[in-house]
This record gives sequence, C-alpha cells and structure tokens, in this order.
Amino acid sequence: MERKRSATIAVDPDRDAPAACPEGIARELPATWRFNFKSIDDEHQQLIDDLNAGWSAFGPAASAPFDRLKTMFVSLKGNMLLHFESEEAEMAALGYPGLQAHKEQHRSAIERLETIEAGAAAIGIVGRADLYALLDTLVDDMLRADVSFKTFLFARGLVHMG
Ligand SMILES: [Fe+2]
Ligand SMILES: [Fe+2]
Repeated sequence: MERKRSATIAVDPDRDAPAACPEGIARELPATWRFNFKSIDDEHQQLIDDLNAGWSAFGPAASAPFDRLKTMFVSLKGNMLLHFESEEAEMAALGYPGLQAHKEQHRSAIERLETIEAGAAAIGIVGRADLYALLDTLVDDMLRADVSFKTFLFARGLVHMG
C-alpha cells in the first residue's frame, strides 16, 4: 500500500484533549530521522505504525479498555525486539564501539514498555498519556540513541545525511 509522505511528524498539539487526532499519534518518520541504511527505517516506521494502530483503537475517548489495546502491545513489543536484534547485529558486524551501551538502552526501552503495559493492565484502562510515553520511548531509540550509530555509519561513508 502506498504511504502518504509528510515532511514533519504529526503529533497532537494538545496532549490532554479527549478527542482523537485523526492523523494518529505520529504518521511518518521525518526525513531527518531516516537512516537510509538497510531495513532500519522500515523497522522504525513499523513501530510508529503499531502506535498508530493503538491510537485508532481509542475512538473519540481519552482512554480505552486495556483489552482493546492488547494486540497493539503484543505487536509493538514483538517489533521492538525484532528491530533491536537486527540493529544490534548490524552494530556488531561493523564493530560499532557503542554496542554495549546501546544494548542497555534497548533493554531499558523494553522495560519501559513492560511497565506501561503492566500499569494499564492492572487498572484495565489505557490512557492517551500511555501512548505518548511509548512514543517517548521510541524517540529515545530512533533519535537520541540511534543518532550516534548514524554518525558512525556516516563517517564510514555507509549512509548519507538528510
Ligand atoms: Fe537503537
Ligand atoms: Fe532503532
């Protein structure tokens, strides 16, 4: 299916608004977030897609029953694990010196997901704030942590910037 491309990430400007943002929590990876290296961009986009599927499950309400979001949590966790595994394999193959620290970052991202999921499961409700917390977790990987790897790839002429 053809994706609609947008230059900027579309995030609901009013995080406490009860109405759903029709575009989803975030649509597409902005160009500056892209790696242009193997499957990393597609994997990052898949994580955003998982989050958008969860966002759509809310309807117009500010919260949703946990059962309705169960599939999203399963898919998101599975795709995060797959992505982290493939990213770490690329780092290992290229001798990336930040691999161990990056593995720790990945582990803490999974822990954050599990904490958010367990909290929502305990009360049987997922709030939109939970999805924003998950988005923050993904941004920690895609931007704050992965950018060092992108710089490493750039220095070796393996990716282009922009
Ligand atoms: Fe990463
Ligand atoms: Fe990543």
